[in-house]
Amino acid sequence: MESDIEGVPYDRDTRSLVYERAKDTHREQPFGTELDVYGPGYEWFEQSLAPKPAAAEHRVRIGGPACKQPYDMSLFNVSAMSFGTLSSNAIRALNKGAALGGFAHDTGEGGLTDYHLEAGGDLVWEIGSGYFGCRTAEGRFDPDTFAAKAAHPNVKCISIKLSQGAKPGPSGVMPGAKVTNEIAEIRGVPVGEKCVSPPAHSTFSTPLELIGFVDQLRELSSGKPVGFKLCVGKRSDFLAICKAMLELDTAPDFIIVDGSEGGTGAAPLEFEDHVGTPLTDGLIFVHNALVGVGLRDQIKIGCSGKIASGFSLVSRLAQGADCTNAARAMMFAVGCIQAQRCQTNTCPVGVATQDPRRARALDVGDKSQRVHHFHSNTVTSANELIAAMGLTDTGQLGPELLKRRIDSNTVKNYAQLYPYLESGQLLTEPPENWLADWNTASSKSFGP
Ligand SMILES: Cc1cc2nc3c(=O)[nH]c(=O)nc-3n(C[C@H](O)[C@H](O)[C@H](O)COP(=O)(O)O)c2cc1C
Repeated sequence: MESDIEGVPYDRDTRSLVYERAKDTHREQPFGTELDVYGPGYEWFEQSLAPKPAAAEHRVRIGGPACKQPYDMSLFNVSAMSFGTLSSNAIRALNKGAALGGFAHDTGEGGLTDYHLEAGGDLVWEIGSGYFGCRTAEGRFDPDTFAAKAAHPNVKCISIKLSQGAKPGPSGVMPGAKVTNEIAEIRGVPVGEKCVSPPAHSTFSTPLELIGFVDQLRELSSGKPVGFKLCVGKRSDFLAICKAMLELDTAPDFIIVDGSEGGTGAAPLEFEDHVGTPLTDGLIFVHNALVGVGLRDQIKIGCSGKIASGFSLVSRLAQGADCTNAARAMMFAVGCIQAQRCQTNTCPVGVATQDPRRARALDVGDKSQRVHHFHSNTVTSANELIAAMGLTDTGQLGPELLKRRIDSNTVKNYAQLYPYLESGQLLTEPPENWLADWNTASSKSFGP
């Protein structure tokens, strides 16, 4: 949201890795591992004695039965960050990087702007509760402006934002001082006045209405893939959405799961630290819920939460995702130094500011190359890991392949740590630890 880089900060090693991969200087590491953290929590994959050659590319088809314009997505994409939060040049560099590398760039909820469209990179257009860029004067969803913008060929998917990991509850606020003429015009809000994303959508208030809205957007966009993004909160709420899909016999084309460890700005500390489900639990739960209701094969799962390396990417695929997104790591690729001054509008490197003089510090040509290199080096590393496990397809990745040390005598894989459901199991015989949430879930209302 309207943000500075808050959330759980990145450690220096990960940032250095991103910088080096973005500069295309980090492929091999001399002298062997420097890790000394093999204790509880350490995770690894086991390689095969029959490794395969690494695939040049794996793509994920987004588009269920109701979709008429499916999109083949990269395993790794730019997560939602709005123009307004990021500068014009940061948006340009991200989108140009996406165009160079053939991956997708999520607009964030601040609207679809010319800066997103200039370079021709593939876009996921995010619609938040403020409906910025497709709203009526009263702030409600406007189907006509939505349809006109969704028709742009660069818009490949549409994502309804339900919630975000680092601030899953409170509404987003952009201070009036940052609402420049340009931002006001793009968002369809008054200049200089505080710009608020309400905590809830006005278009729907029940699971059935949410799925109805998904269908409406798919129709208005002539069948482009439509999905939603959330940080998992009450499990019964998500199961209620699954029940709505079954009742209406239609489903979103994708769901993006954001971890509570995700980034944002201006979020209250308590929300950043103690509200919302961490990515591992949220992702595995969403995967299992969709398997359990027999809809997993129609709905692709994306996820975000500190994904910045081939290992973090492939781990999420093994746990249940189909593809992944990165926000803060992509910011590092465009030059962010994690100064954590974004809310002051004085970002020293021109990434998260609306001050045009500061934004000029960001060289779009150079930084778009870095985004491109960071993406391609990360995906190459992921593809090499998959091949080292003796696999040729991401669909072969499963939770049994990811190991975790529990204590000095115990190692478990993720299939042992988190029981995975059989297809349709929630409909026939919900396991004991799912029963209460499954019975509470109603397609007619979200829980209190
Ligand atoms: C500066 C910034 C702006 C963001 N803006 C949005 C937004 O507009 N919509 C949204 O859904 N998420 C937003 N997010 C959350 C990210 O898209 C992402 O879900 C989260 O940061 C986790 O990814 P990461 O760990 O790779 O940063 C934002 C994050 C950051 C750091």
